[in-house]
Amino acid sequence: MLERDELVWAIPKGRVLAQLLPLFERAGLDTAPLTVKSRKLIRRAAGCRFLLLKPDDVPTYVEYGAADVGVVGRDVLLEREYDLYMPVDLGIGCCRLAVAGLVDAAYPPPPGRTLRVATKYPNVARRFFASRGLPAEIIFVQGSVELAPLTGLSDVIVDIVETGETLRQNGLKVFEAVAEVTSVVVANRVGLKLKRARIAPFLNALRGAEGAAP
Ligand code: PRP
Repeated sequence: MLERDELVWAIPKGRVLAQLLPLFERAGLDTAPLTVKSRKLIRRAAGCRFLLLKPDDVPTYVEYGAADVGVVGRDVLLEREYDLYMPVDLGIGCCRLAVAGLVDAAYPPPPGRTLRVATKYPNVARRFFASRGLPAEIIFVQGSVELAPLTGLSDVIVDIVETGETLRQNGLKVFEAVAEVTSVVVANRVGLKLKRARIAPFLNALRGAEGAAP
């Protein structure tokens, strides 16, 4: 059981964690438990606990109050609606959602042709192509999205591009940007009211640390 006077942070495992640690340190959080190599999913620090989650699950834990605050990419928040406060943009995890495909693919497609789009972000993709007036068939895939145009599963993909290395190594290129993505702090609405005194100093410190990240 979680002790309710502790601040519970939902933290994404993966690439963003390394960028998050210096910001947390500057905000006065004890990050040592996050750097220990272990399979433990709950890491305890002074006055708080960190839940280590798949990035997509962070907003769910915070929305339902299993965590008070969390860190998540805007891509996840664009794909699904959550009832959350979003008090701080951390300015880390910078990347973009983009339409990409084979370097010699015809994009935009000829008028009247339905584009087949593979993506982990079906709602984002559907909204984007609707806004562009392009007929699109959305094909949901879980990962290694770049395989889809290589194998003929789709014409294009809508996916995260960070360094562009995955696209480059697979003979793909960006056709069009869909959205800029950064990591933000999300907070449970009730938790923020009940624990405002505990949470506010961290949010203020993280606000101060914005853009200070390398
Ligand atoms: C993400 C994304 C791209 C890649 C982009 O995949 O889906 O495949 O990173 O990064 P790059 O532009 O720096 O190459 P991730 O590594 O999370 O794995 P996944 O394919 O299983 O989703």
